[in-house]
Amino acid sequence: MKFFIDTANLDQIKEAQDLGILDGVTTNPSLMAKEGITGTNNILKHYVDICNIVDGDVSAEVISTDFDGMVREGEALADLHDQIVIKLPMIKDGVKACKYFSSKGIKTNVTLVFSPGQALLAAKAGATYVSPFIGRLDDVSTDGLNLIGEIRHIYDNYAFETQILAASIRHTMHIIDCAKLGADVMTGPLSSILGLLKHPLTDIGLEKFLADYNKGN
Ligand code: E4P
Repeated sequence: MKFFIDTANLDQIKEAQDLGILDGVTTNPSLMAKEGITGTNNILKHYVDICNIVDGDVSAEVISTDFDGMVREGEALADLHDQIVIKLPMIKDGVKACKYFSSKGIKTNVTLVFSPGQALLAAKAGATYVSPFIGRLDDVSTDGLNLIGEIRHIYDNYAFETQILAASIRHTMHIIDCAKLGADVMTGPLSSILGLLKHPLTDIGLEKFLADYNKGN
């Protein structure tokens, strides 16, 4: 399972990268705004800064909602760095743009996916990644994890190569459950990744080992 971090915060990206477990980064316009990164030039520079920290794929989202605009924006984003993946919304023109980029060998991430039908369309359009938003489904009393299972089933039936990128991860258990369901990638906040480290028996055990070692020294 690949681990992506879902943030535009450079310190958090560095921390995850330094841990040695990071495979990539996802961003979106809201995450950029949260870090105070506004204006096209600043946003583009920030993508390059992120690419220079991590080794893997970095999703950069278009803000156009029409095919021509998405192609124009996506091509400019792809020219920024070879780690950039064009993030496209799951709307009609987004599917069309996904097909356009995948035909040219440019990586894509189809975002804002909330149903198996949408995921099927993304795979048909040759998306590199499909991003089902599990936390946002949970927020409206719909089982987000169930969607991961449904997409896994459909993709396996036809050996689609599109990778399931479980997004809108809210906590550590989401990561575990997505791993059990066979999601190819998860993207979440640093806190949910670091949560995987925690177990009280590890802390108690280590304390005891160190105390016993110190008895003889
Ligand atoms: C995915 O690529 C999105 O950036 C993200 O996971 C959305 O998560 P949220 O629902 O916590 O905003």
